[in-house]
Amino acid sequence: MRTDTPQPIRLADYAPPAFLIDEVRLDFDLAPNTTRVKAKLTVRRNGEHAQPLVLNGERLKPVSVAIDGRVLAEAERTIDAEFLTIPNAPDAFVLETEVEIDPENNKALEGLYMSGGRFCTQCEAEGFRKITWYPDRPDVLSRFTVRIEADRKFRHLLSNGNLIDAGELPGGRHFAVWNDPFPKPCYLFALVGGELDVLEDKLVTMTGRTVDLRIYVDPGMAPRAAYAMDALKRSMKWDEETFGREYDLDLFMIVAVRDFNFGAMENKGLNIFNSSLLLADPATATDMDYERIESVVAHEYFHNWTGDRITCRDWFQLCLKEGLTVFRDQSFSADMRGHAVQRIKDVKALRARQFAEDQGPLAHPVRPSSYLKIDNFYTATIYEKGSEVIRMLKTLIGPEAFRKGMDLYFERWDGHATTVEEFIRCFADVTGRDFEGFFAWYEQAGTPRVSLKQSYDAAARTLELELAQETPPTPGQPTKKPLPIPVTLGLLDGDGRTLAFERDGQAADETLIVLDQASAKVTLTGVDAAPVVSALRGFSSPVELTTDARASDRYVQLAGDADLFNRWEAGQELARALILARAKGAADEVSEERYAEALGRALNDQASDPAFKALLLALPSESDLALAMAPADPAAIHAARDALRLRLSLHLTEDLQRLHIGLQELGEFSPDAASAGRRALRNAALDLLAANPRAETGELADGHYRAAANMTDAMGGLSALMQIGGDLYENALTDFFQRWKAEPLVIDKWFALQARDPDESALGRVMGLTAHPAFDEKNPNRLRALVSTFANFNPARFHDPSGAGYRFLADQILAVDGFNPMTAARLVEPLGGWRRYKPELGALMRKELERIAGTEGLSKNVYELATKALA
Ligand code: ARG
Ligand code: ZN
Repeated sequence: MRTDTPQPIRLADYAPPAFLIDEVRLDFDLAPNTTRVKAKLTVRRNGEHAQPLVLNGERLKPVSVAIDGRVLAEAERTIDAEFLTIPNAPDAFVLETEVEIDPENNKALEGLYMSGGRFCTQCEAEGFRKITWYPDRPDVLSRFTVRIEADRKFRHLLSNGNLIDAGELPGGRHFAVWNDPFPKPCYLFALVGGELDVLEDKLVTMTGRTVDLRIYVDPGMAPRAAYAMDALKRSMKWDEETFGREYDLDLFMIVAVRDFNFGAMENKGLNIFNSSLLLADPATATDMDYERIESVVAHEYFHNWTGDRITCRDWFQLCLKEGLTVFRDQSFSADMRGHAVQRIKDVKALRARQFAEDQGPLAHPVRPSSYLKIDNFYTATIYEKGSEVIRMLKTLIGPEAFRKGMDLYFERWDGHATTVEEFIRCFADVTGRDFEGFFAWYEQAGTPRVSLKQSYDAAARTLELELAQETPPTPGQPTKKPLPIPVTLGLLDGDGRTLAFERDGQAADETLIVLDQASAKVTLTGVDAAPVVSALRGFSSPVELTTDARASDRYVQLAGDADLFNRWEAGQELARALILARAKGAADEVSEERYAEALGRALNDQASDPAFKALLLALPSESDLALAMAPADPAAIHAARDALRLRLSLHLTEDLQRLHIGLQELGEFSPDAASAGRRALRNAALDLLAANPRAETGELADGHYRAAANMTDAMGGLSALMQIGGDLYENALTDFFQRWKAEPLVIDKWFALQARDPDESALGRVMGLTAHPAFDEKNPNRLRALVSTFANFNPARFHDPSGAGYRFLADQILAVDGFNPMTAARLVEPLGGWRRYKPELGALMRKELERIAGTEGLSKNVYELATKALA
């Protein structure tokens, strides 16, 4: 138990900064255990007040504090564990401080730390205070000049902006001076120092300026940065073409590091990436890796405008940059890889992570109103639901007005820190519309439930639609108001052909209904035949839709809905119903056969894209199914899902075998979307074949693994072998480890694969792996590969009836919290859903949460999540 009760920070308490900083000069003397940081701040009192100057600073060893050249006596300032306070500061002055820090022993990976013998930083959200005393808040924007000095073995010395000076120094030392002309908050500061290889390129912008592009990686790895470089150039062009945004400095740098708490960070002109989201070649990276690299490179680059040039006034506005930037990267990926396939993947991720969050004790609005540790709010709600809100905005006002509103936002707020209100005001100003009702999407947590009932009158040729919405209560928000919910809708006839209709006298193939009341009725006229309703096309809002559609309607959609998202969704709905029926002991074998047949037809549809077919073949995940079963019984879900997979496998054997042979790759590897789609379908076919563990399947999977010429196929083979188990699997695992033991990113995959194994033996294996010489809890990628994969992607074994899976996770959380609270906190979530599970399981989950919350010396991060999960 923490002896103090940490006090929450509240949006309602926001006050502008008492002092502003116009210029910052930082001097780093880098040394692994004793780095000296001198800061020279040009400070100005903000408005008329007599408040003291209060600067954040944590884990800093004070050396000196001076104002206008005069060293302050101890009585003139106070230094405690969190702040430097100077009571009688002048109205305008230069503050000079010096501190010492220990990057080598910084295992929280926040502030300045070392990874692989190189210096690097991570400051968002509040890491800069571990580097020097500073007003560590996003609404203090300042111009940074940074001098870095170090031993010459730290060959590259990098910071934000432009290099303005560099040179050799006596004693084997050297230095570099960087200046960033754009005022920025300190969370966007970055520094890197070390021996690195660099991949260089250039890009000519829309106004003809040449920008140098550099990606810095571990020595020897430069060829593996080629795909990230390609993705960067495409992102830069796309942002010019789609949003009219041009890059603003003459240099853009990315550095890859192996020890990183998150995915990547948009520091101005110097993005820092987790190497797992940057390095790729066919031998070591899967198509999924390529896809994520493309989207994260784009995401961080897009932040240059939505995040850096325009930043957040306070951390409650996090979605202002994150939701918007996810929307931008998803739009980019859709343009690169196909809109329907991208939308399906985005919605799968949204449901898996954000819908689950909304159903649990950690549910919070896209713009929360209080927190203990902001780091706990880098959530699927802020990011993914934040993106959905922007997407709805665009759907509601149309693409032209959306672009105008964005243009106005860039024009009005460039160089400032602002709020979500001001963002939305730009769209109100360009459309003349009122967004008051819409704003509730930012303030109200929970996934709305929308119901749709249809009645067709053949004589009148009318279709009456009755829609209703309701949002279940979430912590702190017992009652909810109706939201404006865009529902894109079309009709099909019994053969799946588009059925035209009229709405308010206007002929249409598709229409947008905005449900902004608790319920509404809409009548469509001129409907010539009994229709199948295709509602919420493209997943036009982040809601749970229930309809009175019959299974036969779903089959019509699965075969021919013009909206590919809904074609896929129909298949998922059918599969979900079949699996849940089985899980409740009511298997419907006739319907299962019918489903298998329909899937077979969809697989043989020559017109449809392999990537899309691969998605059709994948059944809803176990966690997706758990959300639809109350209380959730993970063992029953696992067994039922496996049973349906076996049936599909038996029914579709020939089709699957044909795909597996027919899609064999002959030419050179290409990471492009079409080639990746063919590999995805081939591996999905193998995966389903492996649901039927005959001897031949083992041979097939083993052959697939051995013949693999790229990591996508190697992992496809290995994961099929995992399903089959036995010697073939064990031998392949050993072979894989031996082959790749020098490649950390590949060994992460080896750990993650074993963590996903649904076999009874998996928990023991996972626990054993924590003692493997290659396991390293200090490295977040390795830790997540094993522990987070197990807790999030192996429900059958995590929810072991003994509670041993929960105990294992809690032990890991407590161990990691001792040195890396941010990463420890991210492991709490799988226990958070305890109320949704069978009471026997829920009680065991709760017990572990109580054990965590009751532990002495817990970080604020883990304390906040564990106590909220119990509340
Ligand atoms: N802004 C980074 C991004 O691009 C993520 C930073 C994560 N920081 C944190 N404290 N969780 O999404
Ligand atoms: Zn981001």
